[in-house]
Amino acid sequence: MSDKIKNATDDLISFLEYQKSLGVKNLLSTTRNTEMKKNTGTELSKNERITHLKEYIGDCKRCRLCEERKTIVFGAGDYNARLMFVGEAPGRDEDIQGKPFVGRAGKLLTDMINAMGLSREQVFIANIIKCRPPQNRNPMQDEIEQCEPFLVEQINIIQPEVIVALGTFSAQTLLKTENKISNLRGRFDYYRDIKLMPTYHPAYLLRNPNEKKNAWDDLKCVLSELGLAVPSTGTRKQKK
Ligand code: URA
Repeated sequence: MSDKIKNATDDLISFLEYQKSLGVKNLLSTTRNTEMKKNTGTELSKNERITHLKEYIGDCKRCRLCEERKTIVFGAGDYNARLMFVGEAPGRDEDIQGKPFVGRAGKLLTDMINAMGLSREQVFIANIIKCRPPQNRNPMQDEIEQCEPFLVEQINIIQPEVIVALGTFSAQTLLKTENKISNLRGRFDYYRDIKLMPTYHPAYLLRNPNEKKNAWDDLKCVLSELGLAVPSTGTRKQKK
């Protein structure tokens, strides 16, 4: 058996074991709670499902990114969040701290979330890729293919009402498009049945502050979709 087939077989076996550990009997079903209930008569809590997923990811060595990463950056926030932000991949600070968006771009993202009248603890923040690519290079296709199912499962568990895709890479990966972020941003698209707003990545906004107004317009559409009021400027400036 070639290495490629063996690796694919090992991955499949491991995925099936994960599904079995969740109680899934019908492979065509997803692991959504409603399906779980149908299959097993019991419902796992979101926390239990996240715990299973973390165990399944384990000390992941499924792609070359494991060689240089320090920490797997799983994501952070509320598992019941109505709003989920998806970035690209951890950078240096995130790799060290094990949390998403904690460097300079992360500070701007936190400000953007606060400007919406929300806190980081009220939303969920994740990335397409969970390990830092060396020198922050762009993730490669095979790395995305290995890691994306974990994000898909996080989205299945959290079931946000709206996803904000931060930057070209996130928007293109989630929407399976090669369209540029400047063309995608500003209007809702769908990730499966979930509304998705593509907007600029905070790192891009740090380099192009003139675009902050457009990003804020995108976030205002998100607030409106969630039925939340746009905080007045005075309120926005107060940080939690
Ligand atoms: N950039 C990202 O896309 N994600 C992070 O977590 C940090 C920086």
